[in-house]
Amino acid sequence: TLTVDLAAPAKPISPELFGIFFEDLNYAADGGLYAELIQNRSFEYSPTEQAKWGPFSFWDLVKTGEGEGHLGLGNSRPVHVNNPHYLILTVTKPGTGVGLANRGFDQLPLEAGKAYEASFWAYQAYMGIMWGPGDQSKPMPVTVRLEAKDGSVLAEAKFTVSGRAWTKHTATLTPSRSDPEARFVLLAHDQGGLALDMVSLLPRDTFKGRANGLRRDLAQTIADLKPRFVRFPGGCLVHGTGIHAYYDWKDTVGPVEQRRAARNSWGYHQTMGLGYFEYFQFCADIGAIPLPVVTAGVCCQHAGHSPGRGQEGLPLEQMPAYIQDVLDLIEWANGPATSQWGAVRAAAGHPEPFGLKYLGVGNEDAITPDFKERFAMINAVLKEKHPEITVIGTSGPFASGEDFDQGWAFARELNLALVDEHYYVPPQWMWDNLARYDHYDRKGPKVYLGEYAAHEKDRRNTLRTAIAEAAHLTSLERNGDVVLLASYAPLLARRQHTQWHPDMIYFNATEVFPSLNYTVQKLFGHNMGDAALPVALEAGPAGAKLTASAVRDSVSGDLIVKIVNGEATAQPVALKLAGAKKLPATAQRTVFGGADADVVNTDGAPPAVAPVTETVPLSADFTYEAPANSLTIFRISNL
Ligand code: AHR
Repeated sequence: TLTVDLAAPAKPISPELFGIFFEDLNYAADGGLYAELIQNRSFEYSPTEQAKWGPFSFWDLVKTGEGEGHLGLGNSRPVHVNNPHYLILTVTKPGTGVGLANRGFDQLPLEAGKAYEASFWAYQAYMGIMWGPGDQSKPMPVTVRLEAKDGSVLAEAKFTVSGRAWTKHTATLTPSRSDPEARFVLLAHDQGGLALDMVSLLPRDTFKGRANGLRRDLAQTIADLKPRFVRFPGGCLVHGTGIHAYYDWKDTVGPVEQRRAARNSWGYHQTMGLGYFEYFQFCADIGAIPLPVVTAGVCCQHAGHSPGRGQEGLPLEQMPAYIQDVLDLIEWANGPATSQWGAVRAAAGHPEPFGLKYLGVGNEDAITPDFKERFAMINAVLKEKHPEITVIGTSGPFASGEDFDQGWAFARELNLALVDEHYYVPPQWMWDNLARYDHYDRKGPKVYLGEYAAHEKDRRNTLRTAIAEAAHLTSLERNGDVVLLASYAPLLARRQHTQWHPDMIYFNATEVFPSLNYTVQKLFGHNMGDAALPVALEAGPAGAKLTASAVRDSVSGDLIVKIVNGEATAQPVALKLAGAKKLPATAQRTVFGGADADVVNTDGAPPAVAPVTETVPLSADFTYEAPANSLTIFRISNL
């Protein structure tokens, strides 16, 4: 019997409870959410542990009609100091064109009739000692082409490059037919040299039509979750590859050609084309709160360069400058357009403040003296200068243990408002720990469950994991007065580049494959409340996996009751809406579940399990058969 006490005072809970965790791993940013189609557009690729990458990676020399020439690397007069390398194309014999080609990330998909913005930066370069000066008195004719796999031209634009000043050239190209495996080609048509950088191809139909924007299908899939907040850019990624190579937000704002691209801590490359401006803009576009995370001035405890449990920290004399960067971030996000950093935001197209209110400091750090000292320094300055910003502390990678206890003790010592907990656990753990937050101190720091997921041994996105997560989410709703924010992790993973399983949303160059876990997140995102009502569940057999929550949504006025059955058989539930003065005749019921807990979604196929919504009659004492492995949501209006 499930009794929802409608007469009891509803407990206000966080209206921001369910959000998302975006980390640039699994090609989530470049080759993922960021719409750029050219791989290694600024010739800044460098070797990683996994790949012998370099400035020429993913570029081919193209010689047509008996043309001759070669590609070289320049670094003596870059577009910008943050973007040190560029390509030097030398044409010794023009033929019908000599240049370079790029096939994107695995493939370069083009759609007929869709507009793409092709651009490149260039100047006329000397050909060098070996090849002579070239004739720089006349401009260099250039063609940019989109070619089908069979070599036919789908669209092209002509340019002339003249002079020694870096200049951006742009054209809109509209392919005459679709090709999932096209290539981008740039050809020079005269003897001479060209310096080239930031060779780019971006679809114009990005999410909300933003320039330098996001892949529409992926961004829409995320927006469809209705996330109340977006955490970014990680995860471990925030620490970067070393103590002086942390993810620095300042490298990620301003004109894209001035951003500092780098190898990321997940062993591939980040252009920073998807940078802080784009993250904040995305939040604004989907009505979510931005939740950036910065390091606490220590490097990643998981990384090889961090010996033992220790974490190397920034030298203390460098901390004031680092803290200033954090203060600058707040000015950049919230300051007036006339302030130094607010002006950078305004110049990018957002004069209004972004409304930053949360800032994560640290990620899964070992709670060492080095960490504590640096965190306390940052926190003290933020408290003094920006009391309006809620600082979120950290409690390590596990749901319990030494770091966890110490992280919490430290957070209490500093009287932090919120602490970030992370746990990746077996599905059964999610069921066994439904009461985890019932006993948390309501007066101490509150919880941001920043990363969580149910993990099968083989790390598949089974229905079992999705239902276990649904069960756990009901416990977060019941405890929404102490758990203020929660985000499943990780969010995105590109097929063939997935380093971490499971993830919420998979994708390839052209398609998006949401998991069953995504469906659960979406159902909770669409059925949130801002007050919780007490529920009493008199379960049948001891240990039966059955749980529930009841929340009110003050905007719609609806009562939302969620019932999760994790058993392999249906469980009858007598639903009593105690204290209801007058029941409406019907309710909306959504059921997501299936007999086989082991099923997973298959790319390109209909979902293994899909939610079914219908209107059902309601009565004071009605029984409901909760199907095996299911989440059921009743939405009841006017109650
Ligand atoms: O979500 C993947 C990783 O898991 C995150 O980068 C890190 O915070 C955690 O260990």
